[in-house]
Order: sequence, then C-alpha cells, then structure tokens
Amino acid sequence: MSHSIPPLGTPAVRREGRDKVIGAARYAAEHTPPGCTYAWPVPATVARGSIVAIHTAEALALPGVLAVLTHESAPRLEKPDDATLAVLQDAHVPHRGWYVALAVAETIEAARAAADAVRVEYSPVPHDAVLTTDHHGLYIPETANGGEPATSERGDFDTSFGAAQVRVDVTYTMSALHNHPMEPHASTADWQDGHLTVHDSSQGSSTVRDTLAAMFTLDPDQITVYSEHVGGGFGSKGTPRPHVVLATMATLNTGRPVKLSLPRHHLPTVVGHRAPTIQRVRLGSGQDGVIAALAHDVITQTSTVKEFVEQAAVPARIMYASPNSRTSHRVTALDVPTPSWMRGPGETPGMYALESAMDELAVAAGVDPVELRLRNEPSIDPDTGQPFSSRGLVACLQEGAVRFGWARRDPRPGIRREGDLLLGTGVASATYPVLVSAAGSTAHAAPDGSYRIRVNATDIGTGARTVLAQIAAAALEVPLEAVTIEVGSSDLPTAPLAGGSSGTASWGWAVHKACRTLVDQLRELTGELPAAGVTVRVDTEQETETEPPYARHAFGAHFAEVQVDTMSGEVRVRRLLGVYAAGRILNPRTARSQFIGGMTMGLGMALTEGSTLDPLFGDFAENDLASYHVPACADVPAIEAHWIEEEDEHLNPMGSKGIGEIGTVGTAAAIGNAVHHATGIRLRELPMTPDRVLRQLLGAG
Ligand code: MOS
Repeated sequence: MSHSIPPLGTPAVRREGRDKVIGAARYAAEHTPPGCTYAWPVPATVARGSIVAIHTAEALALPGVLAVLTHESAPRLEKPDDATLAVLQDAHVPHRGWYVALAVAETIEAARAAADAVRVEYSPVPHDAVLTTDHHGLYIPETANGGEPATSERGDFDTSFGAAQVRVDVTYTMSALHNHPMEPHASTADWQDGHLTVHDSSQGSSTVRDTLAAMFTLDPDQITVYSEHVGGGFGSKGTPRPHVVLATMATLNTGRPVKLSLPRHHLPTVVGHRAPTIQRVRLGSGQDGVIAALAHDVITQTSTVKEFVEQAAVPARIMYASPNSRTSHRVTALDVPTPSWMRGPGETPGMYALESAMDELAVAAGVDPVELRLRNEPSIDPDTGQPFSSRGLVACLQEGAVRFGWARRDPRPGIRREGDLLLGTGVASATYPVLVSAAGSTAHAAPDGSYRIRVNATDIGTGARTVLAQIAAAALEVPLEAVTIEVGSSDLPTAPLAGGSSGTASWGWAVHKACRTLVDQLRELTGELPAAGVTVRVDTEQETETEPPYARHAFGAHFAEVQVDTMSGEVRVRRLLGVYAAGRILNPRTARSQFIGGMTMGLGMALTEGSTLDPLFGDFAENDLASYHVPACADVPAIEAHWIEEEDEHLNPMGSKGIGEIGTVGTAAAIGNAVHHATGIRLRELPMTPDRVLRQLLGAG
C-alpha cells in the first residue's frame, strides 16, 4: 500500500465524537431495559479467612429487595480460567474486598441498603500483606506476564560488573497504581427467552461472551455482549471482571434485567492494578559510558487467587548492547487483591527503573544522558540476535534533543534558581513491543456505492472506529464517507481486545484483508451489484500464526522540564515532550491524543499517584479519587508529542506499530531525572510527593 491513498495518515475526526459530546452515546450502565433492577455487591471485611455464617433475612426484609445471593444460594459455575471471576462459589475469603454477597433490588438505593444489611460472620486467620526483598514466599515463576521467560542471561554479568570502571547499583520502589478509568466497571444484563444480553464496560466483548458461556454453561450463540462505548480501561477492562459474572447471576436468578455499576471505592480491589515492584538495576561501564554489564532484578507480588507477574525486567533485554546481562523476576503470593494489566504493564515500571539508572550512570561517568544512550545502541536485538524490523530510538532522541533545546543544557545539578524554585531537565527512553493477534471481519458492498465493515473491535476512547474506517477506505480506495464501521458487539466477527497496543494492528489487518478481498470480488463481477450487495468474510488466523524473524518494538524519547519548590517540596512539570517511532501513524489527531494521554498518566505516576497497602487491613487505603490523585488539568503543562515517520515492512499491511501505551513508558523516569538535575537529589521511590522531596532536600542540606 502506498502513501498516496489519502484516508490513511490523515487527521480524520472521531466518528462518535458528536454523540459523546451531546450525551447520545450510551455506556454500559446507561441502558435501562423495562423492569430493570439494580445490584450492589458486598465486599469481605477480613483480609483472610472464611465465612462461618451469612445472615440475609434483615436485608431481604427491606422494601424493594428481590434477592441476596451468597455462596450458599448462588449458582455453581464452571471453574473459570481466571480465578478472580469465581465469586460466590465457596466460603473462602482470599483477600479483603473479595465479594461475598450480592443484593438485588428494585432501586439502586434499596440494593445498597440491602448490601449494607447483610451480616457476615467470619473466621479470620492471620494474613500476610507486606512485600519485602527477603520475603520467605519469593519464587521464580515459570513465566512473567505476556508469557515472557522469568529470567534471561547472556555473557558473564558478575565478572564484568566487578571489573567495570564505573558502577551503578541502585534500587527503585513503586507502590501499587490503580487504573481508575473515568467510567467504572459496569454491566446491564438481561436474560430473556433463553438469550442473555449484556452491555458491559469491557476492552473486549468477544472474551466476555466466551467466558460467560463457559462459566454458566451456555452456548455462545445464547449470549450477546455489547461494549459500544467505553470510558477508558487502561488494562483493567482487558479481561472480564467479577461485576459481569455477578450481573449475569442476578438476571438469571430474578428473571429481570439488572444493572450493576461498581462503586468507585471497590475498583482498586476488584479490577486489578499495577503491582508494587522493588527493582534493583546494576550497570557497569567504562569511563566512556559504554555498558559492559547490565542486571535488572525485579521483586513483586501477586495474590493467592491468581499468579500475575509484572514483567518489569523485560525491556532491559532489548534496550542496550551490553554483552553481559542478566534479568530476573521473583514473586510472592500475598493475601492481597490480584494485580493485573495497567497501561504498559512491564515496560512502564521497568523502564522507570532502567531509565533512571541510566541517568545515574550518565552522572557517574560524566557523559551526557542523550549521548550515553546513543553509545549503547545495539545493532541487533542483544537478547535473541534477531535484527530489529526497525528501531528508531536514535532518531527519537536526536529529534527530541533538537526540539527540546537540549544542546543548551548545563549538566551540573542544582544550579538553576528562580527564587525558591530549582529548575532542571531530564530525558528517558521508551519502548513497547509490537503485538498482533488474529481477528475476523466482514466487508459488504451495497449497490448505492456504500460499504459496511463489521469487526468486534472496542473503542475505549481511542478512536478505533475512526481509524478502522480509514483503513477500510484506503483498502477499498473509496472516500472515507462511503464507509460505515460496526464495532462493539460480540455478534460481530470475533476479534481480540483493545489491549497490548495491538487493537489497530489486529482489527485493522482483518479489515484491510476483508476490503481487499471484496475489491477483488467486485472486479470479477460483470454488470450491476445484486440488490443484496456483496459480502465477504475473512480472518487473519494464517497471517498472524507465525511471527517474522525480527525483533519488533516501538521506541520513543521523553524530555521533561521541572521546577522544584525548595520551600514546599512540590514538583511541577513545566514541559513534557515525547518523540516516537511507531511505524506509520494512521491518524495524527487520534494518535496525538493517545501519546499525550499516556504521558499524562506517566506524569501522575511520577508525581501524584500512589497507593498504600494497609498491612493490617490487607487492602488499599486510597480507594477514591479524593485520596488517589490522578493528574488534573492544572497539573498538566504544555505536552508535545511528535513522531518519526517509519517505513517498516515487517508489521502489518498498514505498516503501523502500537501507540496506546508507549507514551506512559518513559515519562516518569524523564521527570525523576529532571528532578535530580534541578536539585541534585535522587528519589528512588514513586510518587515524588512534596513530603518525600522535602525530606531529601533537607537531608541533603
Ligand atoms: Mo493495555 S494495559 O494492554 O489494556
């Protein structure tokens, strides 16, 4: 495909934008079937133990209450692959906040009152909710998230690190982070005449359908799951969540439609989070900063319900050309909520540590941090020996340096003052793998010259509809307006989730193939189109079955300027710049939105977002948006996102890499490095809140 086809690469406006602005777009909890009921779940109040007795009579006696489901009355479900979904199945409480009952009532107020009136007697047992570097339960898992090997080794790290002229040996600590999408997790479920209809706030409704079918022993054809509009997910809606199982139980139990929207304060506990990590990075180099030894060792936690291992050491395997390198992950299962995906799982916390350590090496070796990265650029994937399909890191760093004005930078820390403020700048690299999976799609040509494309993509706020229409129009070689896109229903051709920055690549490939197949068929057609039009159906099982022999990753460079208030300890970001190399950018308008959104999330991670796991309660203390601080508009300065045009023939027919997550990846490190440049102090624990900054500033004199 060539650049001359206009719809690809143009800033087409969001197709559903107007509907969202005027309130016509309906989210999962905004569907109200006739006779709709409301459900409210009851979380466990002990950190570990079992239910001895559960008293529902008082709740059931309240006006308008229809049912209270418990492990004694709820239907027995088939064991799900994801054990976090096995709710109300037994008396065991694996962590605080685990759901132990569900109240169903005529109104949301009655449901909530009934949930409050459920009395649960527990037999608690001692729990363990504290991660330490010497925790007795630490083990090396078989794989980390994404199926990545838990460990890797090349060369001889110990010997070369011991012999290095310049050594950095540092440990970075991060608390849990929470996804907190604006729209909470919600379902409206309706069981009518042997068919289950669910509106679910999910990143992938095909999987929700298949999961419900398996758990409730229904035929997938008996279930339709819509995820038409989704108010963000950031990974927390990437897999089905307990609310959709509970909602399905409720409608099956009462025979009435039901609405279940999780209260905000339940989200940290039941929809996954970024796991806390303790990361040790060791870098050994010559005086020139050329790295001879690199080790990244990650300690993290999971729950007793399910093993999830944050793959934070994985990016260190491909970033720098160190001939001697070792990475490892160790995990322990605590009596805590289950972690999961959050924007850039693995890469985001891992690159925070690695890119902060790179800055420490730059200071120790006296090499400019941009130059340091250029000196350690590998010519092939150092881990596998494969060539990169394309690797634009150097171009990103160089263009970023020019745009940011890096050449003027005085490397000395702590010397730029404006009254009480200290100013500094920092840089960090970013990377994210190219992921793609099989999808199905249909393409229909109507006699009036219009085209209808169907694929169960999910638009979680990214502009998926818009870019898929562009891909279709380009492949059909027709104007954008001739194309209608249908997404967001499990009745459409099955497609993977909006996750792993793979949506556009996966769905787009299927859409492209369907459209090209249709074009071929139309060419063979003599005379008029039949009245019913022509439809083709394809999938990309074959195309995505084997990966080409290339290391495929997107890259980026982040630059930050900060001011640090020496009186209050407050850090404010003045400028953030990201330059990305992510293949072809298919829509600069929606791509920019993804990049700056990711960078905003990285800013929150650096400065304001943090979560405290209370060791006594075994649950998170900050469970609302008043205590868990996501950046507000006033926190977000001039953010700029740019990109390098990359031609990469080893990706997909559109030539695109993913862009949803990479914006988050290097941002926190760039900000932390800028704080060091401003003040001379190195904070190795996120977020860099005023108390932590001030303590170090005062300690450092
Ligand atoms: Mo993203 S964390 O893969 O939904």
